[in-house]
Amino acid sequence: MKSLITVIGLTLASTIVVAADSSATAAYVGNADQGKSKSVTCAGCHGADGNSAVADYPKLSGQHATYLQSTLKAYRDGSRANAIMAGFAAALSDEDIADLAAYFSAQTPSTGAVEADLVARGQQLYRFGDSAKGISACAACHGPTGAGVASAVFPSLKGQWAAYSETQLKAYRDGQRQHVMMNGVAKNMSDADIKAVASYVGGLQ
Ligand code: HEC
Ligand code: HEC
Repeated sequence: MKSLITVIGLTLASTIVVAADSSATAAYVGNADQGKSKSVTCAGCHGADGNSAVADYPKLSGQHATYLQSTLKAYRDGSRANAIMAGFAAALSDEDIADLAAYFSAQTPSTGAVEADLVARGQQLYRFGDSAKGISACAACHGPTGAGVASAVFPSLKGQWAAYSETQLKAYRDGQRQHVMMNGVAKNMSDADIKAVASYVGGLQ
């Protein structure tokens, strides 16, 4: 009897330890103040508030924390390949990533602009896609205003530098950036389609 109680006691104890461990991992919520101090390293390229000054560096301001976390982890584990970001992400713990994501997601994105002669084609692709070419409507996932969906990890696109979005769409098309949904969306897009829709989302507010 005594040994049976000991066994039950041990089982209970280990169950409690396991439960406490997994809740500690899941429960960490990013802290924006911590993120702000950790973001000093990022500011030179992405801007202090995540509004980068030039199109070489994507804007991070107002981006969903869910997406910022998932893409920083992808740079860290190499599933998203970029030499510069691989170096920065390698130095980040899960907690750093959560703090940085909390900080940048809380910043206000600066507005961008659309090139007037690209609006018509860009808007058509964004809202309706092109069924003849097999291109899905962007709005179905990224939302009518380009705000994305945090819970589904659909990134916000609005106000992003057109040149950055263009590079990413080409990387999805050519398979340099792997993501099953976006590889499928981009595979039938021409350079002109990509340029138009990248410009269009840059002008969304
Ligand atoms: C030396 C310049 C530089 C620094 C410093 C830098 N980055 Fe970047 N970052 C880049 C470039 C360039 C890209 C675009 C890479 C690509 O095409 O995948 C990028 C992309 C990103 C992205 C992806 C954005 C998106 O919309 O998918 C995130 C998130 C990011 N950086 C976060 C950070 C954080 C957090 C830090 C600081 C810890 C940081 N970066 C420091 C240059 C930099
Ligand atoms: C089925 C859902 C879906 C559709 C439709 C879709 N996207 Fe996406 N998009 C995603 C997801 C999910 C990601 C994040 C992928 C990743 O982590 O690499 C993404 C990422 C992107 C990115 C990279 C964002 C960044 O900050 O690096 C761009 C640009 C983009 N999409 C543009 C478009 C455009 C333009 C269209 C329409 C032609 C479109 N998407 C249609 C789901 C979708």
